[in-house]
Amino acid sequence: MFSRRTNWDRQPNRLTELLEARRAAGQPVFDLTISNPTELGIDYPERELLSALSNPQALRYRPEPRGLLSAREVVCRYYREKELCVDPSNVFLTAGTSESYSLIFKLLCNAGEGVLVPRPSYPLFDYLAQVNDVKLSHYHLRYYDSEWRLDIDRESAEGAKAIVIVNPHNPTGAFLKRQEHQEIAGMAKENGPALIVDEVFLDYPLAEDDRRFGSTAGDAEALTFTLNGLSKLAGLPQMKLGWIVVSGPPLLAAEAMARLEILCDTYLSVNSPAQVALPALMKTGGRVRSQILQRVKSNYETLRKATLNSPCSVLNVEGGWYAVLRAPQTRSDEEWAIRLLEKSGIYVYPGYFFDFDEHKYLVVSLLPGEQAFASSVQSLIAIVEQNCSTE
Ligand SMILES: Cc1ncc(COP(=O)(O)O)c(C=O)c1O
Repeated sequence: MFSRRTNWDRQPNRLTELLEARRAAGQPVFDLTISNPTELGIDYPERELLSALSNPQALRYRPEPRGLLSAREVVCRYYREKELCVDPSNVFLTAGTSESYSLIFKLLCNAGEGVLVPRPSYPLFDYLAQVNDVKLSHYHLRYYDSEWRLDIDRESAEGAKAIVIVNPHNPTGAFLKRQEHQEIAGMAKENGPALIVDEVFLDYPLAEDDRRFGSTAGDAEALTFTLNGLSKLAGLPQMKLGWIVVSGPPLLAAEAMARLEILCDTYLSVNSPAQVALPALMKTGGRVRSQILQRVKSNYETLRKATLNSPCSVLNVEGGWYAVLRAPQTRSDEEWAIRLLEKSGIYVYPGYFFDFDEHKYLVVSLLPGEQAFASSVQSLIAIVEQNCSTE
């Protein structure tokens, strides 16, 4: 009856089972995986947000495949603040970054063709690839000298229809450096793979570094799709509004846009109220973003201090909402995650969720409230210290 592409293994893993059992028994859970900013005590300017959503223009339906021009102009203004010139006709509004990926996979790939994605990386790629009949292959992010570096070999790049770059990357937080960008753009130009650059965390830098590349919107060397949206940029995932900026050699970009327009026209999925509200949402969202950034920085500092002289070390985070911990190798990542949950209700991601090569990493969100985060980290370290020996 059903397609092979939806034949997922839906059995909960051991960690999820334990988590569900704990919640069902009413035992406390200190969730260090949480990534929904609307649930974390951030002070959202409610009046402004609600008033933005009450614009009478939202009652009109004007089906535009690329999205309302007035909304696309707001996106261009965002890039202008980064000193990048983007034409509104190169902007396509979507119902979020996940949808943007799906549209681009459909645009570029025949069934079974390949896209090169980072490893480790956030788990959604597997699903997005599967539902679009795309085959994933991987390039690696490697950590040395306190820095994550992209390791993309030319041969795999040449065999792919697109290379996905997440800048900064989830979960490692690594920003794309100018040198790396130059190498990748060199592989992509002249009929090479297209570039899909996911910049949803671009405006969450934890420190400055002048080696960073910045945004690819407006890059002209290779066919490039730059993705962003309100979900992370403005801490407003519920608005379901993202965008794709198409750039590249003019003829190629024009063909891509003509096709993308028909794909978007097929769904017309972006809702009018969010499009009409976009000018106000971007403005107000800036205040939300400042609070989130402040919190992420403060929690990262707490984590760094707490892990000094402990059996856990925290890897250098350049940006984004997550941190990666290296746990003692006396247990695997999954065993540590289970132990933390059983002993003290602390819920972290084992690195294998993100496809880390080695099973020694734990991933934590830097979004929880500062006090809860600090006490959870203290307990986490205490449990690791008490359980360091092999049994
Ligand atoms: C790197 C990255 N890109 C995209 C998304 C999805 O964003 P959206 O909510 O706009 O679909 C996520 C979600 O966590 C993400 O981590």
